[in-house]
Amino acid sequence: MSHDLTPFGYYVHVPFCARRCDYCAFATWTDRADLIDDYLRACRTDIERHVAAGAPPATSVFFGGGTPSLVPATALTDVLAAVPRTPDAEVTVECNPDTVTPELFAAYARAGVNRVSLGVQSMQPHVLHSLGRTHDVANVRAAAALARDTFPTFNLDVIYGGAGETLEDWRHTLQSVLALEPPHVSAYALTVEAGTPLADDAARHPDDDDQADKYLLATDLLRDAGLVWYEISNWARPGHECRHNWLYWSQGEYLGVGCAAHSHRDGRRWWNVRTPERYIDAVGAKRSTEAGAERLEPDARELEGLQLALRTRAGVPSGALPDDPELRSLVVVDDVVTTLTIEGRLLANEVALRLRHPASVAGSSKT
Ligand SMILES: C[S@@+](CC[C@H](N)C(=O)[O-])C[C@H]1O[C@@H](n2cnc3c(N)ncnc32)[C@H](O)[C@@H]1O
Ligand code: SF4
Repeated sequence: MSHDLTPFGYYVHVPFCARRCDYCAFATWTDRADLIDDYLRACRTDIERHVAAGAPPATSVFFGGGTPSLVPATALTDVLAAVPRTPDAEVTVECNPDTVTPELFAAYARAGVNRVSLGVQSMQPHVLHSLGRTHDVANVRAAAALARDTFPTFNLDVIYGGAGETLEDWRHTLQSVLALEPPHVSAYALTVEAGTPLADDAARHPDDDDQADKYLLATDLLRDAGLVWYEISNWARPGHECRHNWLYWSQGEYLGVGCAAHSHRDGRRWWNVRTPERYIDAVGAKRSTEAGAERLEPDARELEGLQLALRTRAGVPSGALPDDPELRSLVVVDDVVTTLTIEGRLLANEVALRLRHPASVAGSSKT
């Protein structure tokens, strides 16, 4: 890992999927495959312009979606070729298990991809079905074996709380996923996102207590398998943490390429137009791809930094939370940092509300 370079990430959004999952609110489309070539060409042109204007080399690149593995390998690797990279840059591609082939992964590896993230979600067929997924358990086993043989590291994404999923189903998913020996696992609580079919169907909404039980089971089984917790929903073998995601959690700088992608640079944040058509048009006409921008005031930025850090094993400076008996079982306080306990992780949003505004922390440390 380079330590002498300031980290800088490139996120490339690939907004195409074979089918939309009921719970998903990401900017993705299932009926626009005819745009794929133009869209990825526009991404490449956009990157070239940013690089000509001084964008630094990438310490990490992340192709996210949508389903990046749905587009032809060369279309994706042509985009990657336009990204200047440090020699040891982390390069991740999000893949759906039923799109993975040996040829696809071989092409990725030749182009410099060194990490894939597989959207496994569940290892129980009836749960996969209720989530509306297109892949089966055999697809997952084959894709994970190929990932292990091809790349130095890989991640498996799982979701808990799908309709009809029992605690035993979730245990089975975790055990089956761990049998694939992933160096990294992201385990997400199913979230009801506004505007999705799931949001309209209250009978399928997850139950808070059930989610908590499933989180606790995950913490036990993942830890016992040698995966170390490092962010609310993320566990890794030491050295296999996702460098790109650390950038987001540590308020690092990154360039978002493609529709709906977000960027952060020089204290400014901006986000791109939401649809692939508008993005292609903007790049073609040499117009800005931005839909909006903001600049955070220093206090707000610092508070946000604390909120993000609280969710990671880095924790927040001791003093950023009040010495309150109500928080005792939720945090571990030492002289330097305060981190969440497992119970605290379950109530991370509530604990974050107690973070003291940076100005008042600075004030209290003076007295
Ligand atoms: C941006 S998605 C793209 C990955 C890929 N298309 C897939 O679904 O396999 C990345 C991950 O976000 C998670 N995710 C998406 N929507 C979610 C939701 N509503 N609740 C919890 N996790 C979600 C899934 O685990 C998914 O693998
Ligand atoms: S495959 Fe992934 S990105 Fe596409 S709709 Fe499903 S969860 Fe969303």
